[in-house]
Amino acid sequence: MTKILITGANGQLGRSIQKLAPQYPSFDLVFTDVDELNITDYDQLEMAFNRYNPDGIINCAAYTDVDKAQEDQFNAEMLNTTAVRYISEYAHRFNTWLVHISSDYVFDGQGFRPYVETDPTKPFSFYGKTKLEGEYEMRENAEDGFIIRTSWLYSEFGHNFVKTMLKLGRSKEELHVVFDQVGTPTYATDLARAILDMLSKRLPSGHQTYHFSNEGVTSWYDFALEIMELAGISIPIKPIESKDYPFPTPRPHYSVLNKAKIKRDYNITIPHWKASLRECLKELSDLKGDG
Ligand SMILES: NC(=O)c1ccc[n+]([C@@H]2O[C@H](COP(=O)([O-])OP(=O)(O)OC[C@H]3O[C@@H](n4cnc5c(N)ncnc54)[C@H](OP(=O)(O)O)[C@@H]3O)[C@@H](O)[C@H]2O)c1
Repeated sequence: MTKILITGANGQLGRSIQKLAPQYPSFDLVFTDVDELNITDYDQLEMAFNRYNPDGIINCAAYTDVDKAQEDQFNAEMLNTTAVRYISEYAHRFNTWLVHISSDYVFDGQGFRPYVETDPTKPFSFYGKTKLEGEYEMRENAEDGFIIRTSWLYSEFGHNFVKTMLKLGRSKEELHVVFDQVGTPTYATDLARAILDMLSKRLPSGHQTYHFSNEGVTSWYDFALEIMELAGISIPIKPIESKDYPFPTPRPHYSVLNKAKIKRDYNITIPHWKASLRECLKELSDLKGDG
């Protein structure tokens, strides 16, 4: 049985892996979050490697608040960069592979066609910089592993755009949502399934970087419209430009990821974002006419 240590297991991706765990009985999954395993603590990591002696790690822990990261730079860097070095060093020492999650924010967001894994990186936010440097640490220090870059992650767990829109849709008279930021939502359950399917087919050997999101392309405005439509919430939504919305940190105009490599190497089928959104709303019991 393959033993896998999961860090940050109470976040969106971690909880999605927990949800799917019964479908993967050949994996012995050990779930930890900051209370039990703080990945910024070098000694705690050593104790966890000694205690669990895992074959592999899936690092779901991260500092994910883009705006807070711009201010709270020490902690963002500690979690997204330094801790990735720590985990990678232990992975190397204990002969363990590592799956690490990165972000579309490593790119400059000025693209005009889906980003491939080899496109030049140029983060425009501190969060993006810490995620890119985390990638460097992983490649430099871990022997075997995947870096999986994803975008616009949402789920039935934690805080995300879908849950915010459902709440606002039921409490406001009108919403304003930006239409000039284009990307692809990723349902965390689909990302979790992709990771577990990949590991079921072939364990990492050497380094590979992959892009993963759902299929299709949309804007935040169209995403919001679809959420309201599927949830049966009737509210006027006005499309606005990014310049008219006070984001504390600039957002990418374009963050579509090209997924040809992961589909080719692992023969995985990726659902369209609209189908996955419907699944998530069903899980949240927010799908119109469901039950
Ligand atoms: N969310 C997105 O839109 C998005 C987009 C692109 C890429 N990603 C990447 O996808 C990955 C998963 O994101 P997510 O949305 O699932 O993240 P998340 O929901 O924010 O979960 C992160 C988890 O890590 C935990 N954590 C915080 N500090 C820790 C520490 N020192 N040691 C161990 N655990 C710690 C958090 O606990 P607390 O909640 O108690 O702090 C939380 O349970 C991340 O690498 C992220 O950068 C996310």
